[in-house]
Amino acid sequence: MRDLTALGIAAVIGAGIFSTIGNASHDGGPAVSLLFVFTAVACAFSALCYAQFAATIPVSGSAYTYAYASFGELVAWIIGWALIMEYAVGNIVVAISWSDYFTGLLDGIGLHIPDYLTLGTQSAYKGYHEVLDMMQARQPLSEASPAQLDAYRVWNSAPALFGDFKLVCDLPAFCITVLVTALVYIGIKESKTASNLLVLLKLAVVAVVIAVGAFYVKSANWTPFAPNGVGGVLKGVSAVFFAYIGFDAISTTAEECKNPQRDLPRAMIYALVICTVLYVIITLVLTGMVSYKELGVGDPLSFVFKKVGVDWLAGVVAVSAVFAMTSVLLVFQIGQPRIWLTMSRDGLLPPVFARVHPKFHTPSFSTIVTGFFVGVPALLLNMDLVIDLTSIGTLFAFALVCGGILVIDPYGRSDARFKVPYVNGRFLVPLILLVGGVLLLNYNRPAINEFWQALTSGHYDQFRHLIPMIVFLLFCVGLAVVSFTKRLSLLPVLGLLTNLYLMTQLGISNWILFFGWLIIGLAIYFSYSNKHSKLNAVRV
Ligand code: ALA
Repeated sequence: MRDLTALGIAAVIGAGIFSTIGNASHDGGPAVSLLFVFTAVACAFSALCYAQFAATIPVSGSAYTYAYASFGELVAWIIGWALIMEYAVGNIVVAISWSDYFTGLLDGIGLHIPDYLTLGTQSAYKGYHEVLDMMQARQPLSEASPAQLDAYRVWNSAPALFGDFKLVCDLPAFCITVLVTALVYIGIKESKTASNLLVLLKLAVVAVVIAVGAFYVKSANWTPFAPNGVGGVLKGVSAVFFAYIGFDAISTTAEECKNPQRDLPRAMIYALVICTVLYVIITLVLTGMVSYKELGVGDPLSFVFKKVGVDWLAGVVAVSAVFAMTSVLLVFQIGQPRIWLTMSRDGLLPPVFARVHPKFHTPSFSTIVTGFFVGVPALLLNMDLVIDLTSIGTLFAFALVCGGILVIDPYGRSDARFKVPYVNGRFLVPLILLVGGVLLLNYNRPAINEFWQALTSGHYDQFRHLIPMIVFLLFCVGLAVVSFTKRLSLLPVLGLLTNLYLMTQLGISNWILFFGWLIIGLAIYFSYSNKHSKLNAVRV
């Protein structure tokens, strides 16, 4: 159990707490700590549903396998496709963030990699053009953010490739992906002791940050608590959710557990509770040490200590961040090929994805494809975009897992050794939705006004931003009616609702990209998977 909880923490604590928490705190202020609590609750509902599935179907393959059992092949394919967002795309974020800390560390010891080899092409190109536009509009450059100015400088000084295009890419992010892929390929299994030690290191660093940081907290920095209102806090949804991704990786070990029914649910909840407590405290410490306005940086945990002059701790945090993120990279880089292997065994992907290396006994082809899929975009892409995509895909997968429990066991009657505790949702679901609605009406007036204006503006350009929320509201009404008539189990319903609500906050452009991704997935399914699947063989 301790090993399982440690595995969860190994996968969870990484780029989220060492990096993305910075921008979230910058946008939302100290109140982002509350978003950490809300997101943890959404994850806890999903964890319970994951746990029931893991107890019912104790095989590897994560949510993909569960969807296969509960919804059938098509939904399983969709979830498997969405999980690529969590595992492979998530690892792109971790690789980019790893590179930020690593280059900072090298700089610290006097080794400088040229700037144009440490920044993603998209970030540099975007920042350069934003600053250029400002110059053309004769806006003062003091209005540009440090990241934009940096991007402008890097793009300008980079060697030309062809025409106006410059050689700018994030080489360390690519290199760490290649290295981790090579280790996974030859079947590195961190020994339990090594991985538990790494987890202890992460926990110790976070504890030291909290303990030392607490001395530098100025309570004045906590006022105002939510400087940009609920809207500012909700801007941090992807970053905050990203910080929790990974606890579900525990479920992929169901086959290797002695007593998955007992241990998996507990380990997931323990990992979540430990991480939530740490995240909430660390957000309060960070936003208490410096003004939230200064936290929009890629390495906030080390930044705050440099800022207050505790340089030795800034260095320790940076070194630990590099180790912590390497261990996250390993967990996901091991997980993704195994999901593809399971999908290939079901006939949904070509057999080569299930090829196992004769000597190393690892899914060799899938591992290499994962390496490419993570390494090449890590060279090029902007981290914010990738964080959003990871979060939307993972939230979707979590929502489907909660929905899956409602399909296979809506009344908590399963005889699995672990099941989501049944609470009759007949009155509670409508009541909770009502209370939630009233609270939002009360505390998020600006958003409600904006919603109303856009709804009545008559401009599609404004209206389209409302589409996810409108669909969500209609879904809530539908689910309230079904919960009332069918007495659905409350906790999976709440899991479904909280995950979908978080999805509505991710912006229409991410929804469009996500739908594009799903459409590509469906095209592959109908042109290949459907015809080659094992179930199809049975049907024929
Ligand atoms: N939760 C993991 C991290 O923050 C993915 O790195």
